[in-house]
Amino acid sequence: MNKIPVCSLEELSGGKTQVIDVEGKSVLVLQLGEEYFAVESICSHADVSLEDGDVDESDYTIECPKHGSLFSIKNGEALTLPATKPLKTWVASTDGENVVIEL
Ligand code: FES
Repeated sequence: MNKIPVCSLEELSGGKTQVIDVEGKSVLVLQLGEEYFAVESICSHADVSLEDGDVDESDYTIECPKHGSLFSIKNGEALTLPATKPLKTWVASTDGENVVIEL
């Protein structure tokens, strides 16, 4: 498994998110509590960025700002309509001062 650094821990401090390109995919990286997540940043319903979507830290969900579909941050599952297809997710962790994802 190839782990690549995607951002620094500092770049996610205070609830900030980062969007980076990994192998042609736009990836949203975020921290919830002590855990790190990486999820496709484009809604599976239409070509809309989830970067400004509301994150529910207790339910581990992100809401698409366009039509309101909820997605699981943990596994990308589309939890509410109109989206029906999941988002791709990556395993994220830390390595020193960086967040890394597994390809
Ligand atoms: S564009 Fe995200 S739910 Fe429609």
